Amino acid sequence: MRKEVFVGRKYGFIYIVISISILFLSGCPKPPIGPVGSLRDMAASRNIRIGAAVDPTKFSETAYDNTCKTEFNMLVAENVMKMDTIHPSATTYNYSPADLIMTYAQNNGMTVRGHALLWHNQVPGWVTAKPYSELIAVMQSHIDNVLTHFKGKIHSWDVVNEVVKDNGLGLRNNDDSSSIWADSLTDDSIIKEAFYRARAVDPDAKLIINDYSNEAKGSTKADKLYSLVAGWVGAGVPIDGVGFQLHLMESSTPNYTAIRQNIDRYIALKPGFQVQFTEIDVRISEPASQSELDNQASIYANLMRIALDYYPNVTVFVTWGITDKYSWIPSVFSGYGSALLFDGAYAPKPAYHALVNALR
Ligand code: G3I
Repeated sequence: MRKEVFVGRKYGFIYIVISISILFLSGCPKPPIGPVGSLRDMAASRNIRIGAAVDPTKFSETAYDNTCKTEFNMLVAENVMKMDTIHPSATTYNYSPADLIMTYAQNNGMTVRGHALLWHNQVPGWVTAKPYSELIAVMQSHIDNVLTHFKGKIHSWDVVNEVVKDNGLGLRNNDDSSSIWADSLTDDSIIKEAFYRARAVDPDAKLIINDYSNEAKGSTKADKLYSLVAGWVGAGVPIDGVGFQLHLMESSTPNYTAIRQNIDRYIALKPGFQVQFTEIDVRISEPASQSELDNQASIYANLMRIALDYYPNVTVFVTWGITDKYSWIPSVFSGYGSALLFDGAYAPKPAYHALVNALR
């Protein structure tokens, strides 16, 4: 009896092993991946979202399309989800450009960040013409409509973007014309309501407050944003994370220790609090030398190492564009460029290889 039982168990075990192997080999669903060793493939192996800001009018360019779907697994709209495009008048919404990104992402197994619901820039005229007293209703209708349209398809939303003044003295506000979305340095009523509204419409999306020059603990602006977010989270405002845009200069090495200290205090706010690297580019004074490109590569790699060290609180690593050919940098910072992972001819730069190696 005992022998028969033993034999039965042995063959039973073998049967289980064989059937599991057949199931696996028969192609239980596996995430689409790029060529082995692509940045996307390496990131997927570490559960990192490696993303790029995209312009849907460029998908028809073969090199743009191939590089995008092979090397990235997250997309964000550089411009077409902003209010001026998506909500051009009080009664009209234009989702066509954004839906091109959603379809592209779905066809290529990618996730999408939503950028941005409330921002002081690219606000349509019909909104800026309104008195402050009418703006909370504008925000509510905007968020209701936009989040309903994309419901369940957005990984994380930049609910508010760049609400802290660069001098760190308080909120951008309409007193100094730095934003219509606050009535004073301390008026956070619309900001808080935006998070509640977004949570109510799409409870699955991570709700993020995004800003630039906010990454290093000890800078006035970063400390101000942290204290505001800590207060809001403590009061129960549904904020799931902070976005560090990380628009950097190759000539100015980031303070990696201060970035780590900043992440430490954010992730202590509540379990699972996210820090997302949302708009990374590292601009170089043109023409970029080999040593500058190598230094740029070390900056990208050091940021990725920080992300990996803080996994799973840091899982989003998005560059603000795919190729230097279309980067916003030269048009805003005259004489600067070469800020991204792929050059103007879509050749991977040292920064690309440094990221692949950091992910290994
Ligand atoms: O769409 C119009 C087009 O119809 C017109 O012919 C053309 C010339 O005037 O302008 C086009 O709009 C431009 C828009 O990009 C779309 O291309 C705006 O002028 C231009 O100012 C706008 O720049 C964008 C900028 O945000 C707006 O402030 C950049 O592409 C975009 O990279 C940049 O992204 C921001 C993030 O959203 C927030 N964080 C900072 C980051 C860099 O500024």
